[in-house]
Order: sequence, then C-alpha cells, then structure tokens
Amino acid sequence: MSPALRPQGRSVNGGDPQAEERPPAGARHVAIIMDGNGRWAKKRALPRSLGHRAGVNALKRTVEGAAELGLEWMTVFGFSTENWSRPATEIAELMSLLKNYVRSDLARLEAEGARIRVIGRRSDLSPDVLEVIEHAEERTRNNDRFHLQVAFNYGGRADIAEAAGRYAAAIASGAVAPDEVGERAFGRFLSTAEGPPLDLIIRTSGERRLSNFLLWEAAYAELVFQDVLWPDYGPEHLKAALEEFESRERRYGGAEVDDVLAAG
Ligand code: FPP
Repeated sequence: MSPALRPQGRSVNGGDPQAEERPPAGARHVAIIMDGNGRWAKKRALPRSLGHRAGVNALKRTVEGAAELGLEWMTVFGFSTENWSRPATEIAELMSLLKNYVRSDLARLEAEGARIRVIGRRSDLSPDVLEVIEHAEERTRNNDRFHLQVAFNYGGRADIAEAAGRYAAAIASGAVAPDEVGERAFGRFLSTAEGPPLDLIIRTSGERRLSNFLLWEAAYAELVFQDVLWPDYGPEHLKAALEEFESRERRYGGAEVDDVLAAG
C-alpha cells in the first residue's frame, strides 16, 4: 500500500452544499457493490463458493489499489440483510470468508496504517464472527491512513430505521436540542457517521441498482456501473471508475458548484 496518500481535503457535505468548502477533484470515499461472483463461477462451471473466494482475492487487489490511487475511505458491501435468504451453505461460506479475510490480512493492513470498521447489524452474527470483527477494529483503531469499511449484515433501510430510533431517544433525552434537529444532526446517528461524505458508488457485473446499499449516503454520490464481474475486478477497473468520476460535474442539486460556493 502506498504511503503517499492524497493530502487531506474537505468535501462538500452531500446534504448541505453550503456547509463546507469546495470538494477536491478526486474522490475521497468510494463504495463498491461487489456483484457477479455467482455468474463468474457459473461461467466456469464452478460452485458459487469458488466465485466468492475469487471475490475475496479481487477485494484484496482492489484495497491495495485504492490506497495507491489516493483514496482515503472505501466501503464495500460484503453481506446484505437480504442475503440471509440464500442457501445455508452459501451463508456459511460468506461468514467464513469474512473471518478468513480479516485473519489473513489484518497484520498487513494494520502495519500499513489501515483502519478496519464493520457496519451493519451485529445482533444476528455468531460469536466467532463477532470476535474477529471486534478484534480487527480494536487492533486498527488508531490507524487513519486508509479506512476500509465492510458493510456486513447491512441494509440501508435498516440502518436509517435504527438511526431514527437512536435519534428519537436523543431528542427525548435532550441530547439533541430542538434547534439542532435536521439532516446534519440525524446523519450523526447513522453507522457511517464517522466517514467523509460518499463521493462515488461503483457496482460491478452490469446490474444498475443500489440494492439497499448506503441509501442516505448516496444522495449526492456519483454512480458508476461497470460491466466486469467482481472476481475479475482490480485496481485498473477502480482507476477507470475514478477517471469517470473526475469527468463528472457535481451540482448538488443546484447550479455549478462554483456558483453555489460563491453564493455562500
Ligand atoms: C454478489 O455476488 C456478492 C456478494 C453477495 C457478496 C460479496 C462477497 C465477496 C466479494 C466475498 C466475500 C467478501 C467479504 C468481505 C466477506 P452474487 O453471489 O450475488 O453474484 P451473482 O449476482 O452473479 O449471483
């Protein structure tokens, strides 16, 4: 992983264009819907499990490439709240892959200054999965060179609903004052609150949906859909997506960003 990360820049907050400074030209926070493992395996007459295993290798390559390309934050969709409807053997495989990925790569990621976080509902996860997640988060909690956020047992609607519960309790207790109530205050209760605004969502495999991923955070993110199946993905595809991102003009619902910022 490259030590030469892009210098820190501040992004315009997606929900509040006047809140912060001009966004940097490059993306800081990219999210990826890693789709197509099953189709990759099917094309090769292999079991789906081997597609998911190849997907982990693609994840490793892409994480390495992300830091070298100057990204600070990457959020990947590892397991959705809807994935529980898959066969038990496939669910078990995905749980094992998460554990094995973290166990095999933790020391290297830690040494390279990466911080690992897992977002999503933890109460449904088994103790062995929880232990691996908590250990990785604890070991890397002081790192800030690169942030890898894994959405696992995550659903955008569930995250918003759970945040709403915490938000309501905070308003009731007075922790959030009535004059603070609004998008910015609410955003602090989401599982993604610690990260910078989301700049770009990539989905592989040619599908063009968000599938309940980062619904709130996607408000002003750019979307890039790539026709490559996830196990074939790597830094060259991420670089192409970032180039596409940089060619887009982000308006945040208003006029050109320059005009929005000039208007104060
Ligand atoms: C979609 O492929 C991918 C997933 C359901 C999960 C993504 C998982 C990995 C990349 C490997 C494990 C990584 C972690 C962090 C656990 P699909 O099975 O829906 O593919 P298909 O649409 O072609 O059937």
